[in-house]
Amino acid sequence: MSERTISLVDHRYAASVPAVPAQTPAPGSTVLDRLGRPLHDLRISVTDRCNFRCKYCMPKEIFDTQYEFLRHDELLRFEEIERVARSFVELGVRKLRITGGEPLLRRGVEDLIGMLARLRGADGSPVELTMTTNASALARKAQALRAAGLQRVTVSLDAIDDAVFRRMNDVDFPVATVLEGIRAAQAAGLSPVKVNMVVQRGVNDHQVLPMIEHFRGSGVVLRFIEYMDVGTTNGWRMNQVVPAAELLQHIEARHRLRALDPNVVGETAERWTLDDGSLEIGLISSVTRAFCRDCNRARLSMEGKLYLCLFAAHGHDLRALLRGDAQRGVAAVDDHALRGAIAQVWNARADRYSELRGAHGGEHGEPAARRVEMSYIGG
Ligand code: GTP
Ligand code: 5AD
Ligand code: SF4
Ligand code: SF4
Repeated sequence: MSERTISLVDHRYAASVPAVPAQTPAPGSTVLDRLGRPLHDLRISVTDRCNFRCKYCMPKEIFDTQYEFLRHDELLRFEEIERVARSFVELGVRKLRITGGEPLLRRGVEDLIGMLARLRGADGSPVELTMTTNASALARKAQALRAAGLQRVTVSLDAIDDAVFRRMNDVDFPVATVLEGIRAAQAAGLSPVKVNMVVQRGVNDHQVLPMIEHFRGSGVVLRFIEYMDVGTTNGWRMNQVVPAAELLQHIEARHRLRALDPNVVGETAERWTLDDGSLEIGLISSVTRAFCRDCNRARLSMEGKLYLCLFAAHGHDLRALLRGDAQRGVAAVDDHALRGAIAQVWNARADRYSELRGAHGGEHGEPAARRVEMSYIGG
């Protein structure tokens, strides 16, 4: 009997081919899911590769030299990404975020940015276009990204202390290069730059106050994220989470804070500012105070699978509709049909994973089984 080795993380995540409905909403229609949530935000992952090996995201033991990343022909081409993004924009998406893996590793990503920057909503307005990056290549690329039409960037940075940072990225990458990237982004006008720090108890929670000290007066928005149980490989435990309420107490023991109003509905971060106005701080409490109620985010993987929740185990294979898939008896569809299929998938959405996990007291009840990895669909 032949044996097939199945790696712990398998990119061939379950995905079904969406049906094409008889009716397609006209461009500019609002599509709602089963909980009444509109489609507002599309996160597009452009590569499954990253040059870092953050232990909570791409642990070395799994993402090693044996690990099979996707082949180039499996990835959506830029023209295909643009086609999908255009359909989403016609269905009401106002914000596109490019993620990875590490998106700056995808060759020519600025060309994609240029294509997406030209998209217009049904009312003729441009969409918000942003990127999440580890900033390792940002100093080199910031100008070109800005010139191509990127509006701002969010940089993942988990520590300001060089030794802690090198340990966390697990490839000995120096913090100075990331800081250089942030400065280059600001100089290029990719503002406001947001810095995301995932806080893990006992790993980098002692870096919270030093991060605040470092970024005071810099114009950066600093956001602290509760460590989440995404994927299957990071061995997440509730006791590694520092609840946002505890973080707030910790910060308030040192600094006076003022609450800021939300910018938009469905925002991930609760916003605060240091009383002297020198730093905006965001708290993203995805674990202890789930924000599923207003979640208007869809996620597109680099190989064209659509996910309706960060914790989804099941995707919707848009690539099969774009290219056709003879083996599965699927024909390639036109833009009209593509838009209809996406709308129908969104209409059926009822995901609210974090709320349900909250209702079960933190630890999730069911085994994570085949949940997708963060490096596969980006944050
Ligand atoms: P802006 O504030 O507009 O820059 O974007 P954002 O906060 O929507 O995006 P960002 O990617 O910076 O999100 C920050 C972090 O929040 C991510 O890295 C995730 O950890 C978390 N997050 C974002 N979206 C979701 C979501 O839909 N569900 C959950 N549970 N967490 C999310
Ligand atoms: N919990 C919270 N945030 C995470 N990210 C990656 N894995 C997790 C996790 N388990 C964040 C990264 C980055 C973004 C892409 O997602 O730090 O900011
Ligand atoms: Fe790479 Fe970001 Fe994951 Fe770290 S968290 S391994 S930088 S994708
Ligand atoms: Fe949205 Fe899922 Fe996150 Fe809830 S857990 S906010 S539904 S992505």
